[in-house]
Amino acid sequence: MNILVTGGAGFIGSAVIRYLINETNNNVLNVDKLTYAGNLESLDTISNNSRYQFLQADICDKVAMTKAFADFEPDIVMHLAAESHVDRSIDGPMDFIHTNILGTYTLLEVARVYYQGLSDDKKHSFKFHHISTDEVYGDLEGTDDLFTESTPYSPSSPYSASKASSDHLVRAWHRTYGLPVVVTNCSNNYGPYHFPEKLIPLVILNALDGKPLPVYGDGKQIRDWLYVEDHARALYLVATTAKVGETYNIGGHNEKQNIEVVKKICQILDDLKPREDGDKYESLITFVKDRPGHDLRYAIDARKIQQELNWQPQETFESGIQKTVEWYLSNQGWVNHVKSGKYQHWVEKQYQ
Ligand code: NAD
Ligand code: TYD
Repeated sequence: MNILVTGGAGFIGSAVIRYLINETNNNVLNVDKLTYAGNLESLDTISNNSRYQFLQADICDKVAMTKAFADFEPDIVMHLAAESHVDRSIDGPMDFIHTNILGTYTLLEVARVYYQGLSDDKKHSFKFHHISTDEVYGDLEGTDDLFTESTPYSPSSPYSASKASSDHLVRAWHRTYGLPVVVTNCSNNYGPYHFPEKLIPLVILNALDGKPLPVYGDGKQIRDWLYVEDHARALYLVATTAKVGETYNIGGHNEKQNIEVVKKICQILDDLKPREDGDKYESLITFVKDRPGHDLRYAIDARKIQQELNWQPQETFESGIQKTVEWYLSNQGWVNHVKSGKYQHWVEKQYQ
């Protein structure tokens, strides 16, 4: 099959493309604008493969998207391109409205026209897979509640509101125009090639630099962590086997308070790379001003994808976080390139 992936130079998109090239026989077109979050070095291990092509383009550019569809003739579209960082969405929501809402709208319109021109056979197998987040559901109050596929949407941040909006557009294009779509809503991912503006890579790299480890508020907020390669496998399964019109929640049953995550990373680093001054990494933990509108708890009920598609995460949080810290320790080249001038500017502004 020909699989068009948007946002393939990002954290999850690059894991999806590495999976598609290494574990399947499909052809891949990566359509990515290369914003600050896009990094082609994350695809170095597969970029010379003859089944892989890259197109630098904005998903809001209808002409470029129409040409990409016409030239590549996708059987499946996996749409991951987005602005994805909550704190940046609070600082400046416009890019989120633009890419996440208008970009998804543009892609849906291009896909609709393309789909209408397909033969019956091709129509039968075509799918538009929209990759979304559990943050569209807002936060959970009760300790036993879980997000299911029918939990009402209640987004809190400009990021989650823009993703919720894009999810609604995707479902409307299915219901109104008959576009064959599937939607997935996943919990927080972590793993290799994660841009260090997000909690886990930020803490690993700050710790190695001897810098403060910023924990928002009291650090008791809960996230449900999934190793990125488990997500990539789940996405391929959904894109290729799910019934059109379905939604699947994806999560690893790994609920952790932020402070637990930070302490765990410190313990692994104490073991793998003890500090020269003999202090523990935990001494760098610094509680800072809380995020406005901070969601308290996310937790996914992943029974539907487990029961219907037979998907299970392969990593526990303990095995995944160990692998992740080890990856950052042995990939200093990638890390040094990512910590460019622009990244430093964001960190100074955000944590001053
Ligand atoms: P990311 O920020 O690491 O990567 C986003 C990619 O999209 C980048 O390569 C960027 O260059 C590209 N992009 C941004 N705007 C674009 C545009 N207008 N046109 C073309 N390309 C553009 O994001 P990620 O963490 O890999 O997330 C990927 C998707 O998965 C997003 O849709 C996000 O909402 C969703 N998601 C993320 C998580 C998570 O924990 N990171 C969890 C669930 C769902
Ligand atoms: P993040 O990785 O930004 O993902 P999301 O906001 O999409 O869940 O943040 C994960 C959690 O960690 C979230 O509760 C905010 C918190 N956090 C901190 O405590 N300190 C930080 O420096 C960052 C970036 C996040």
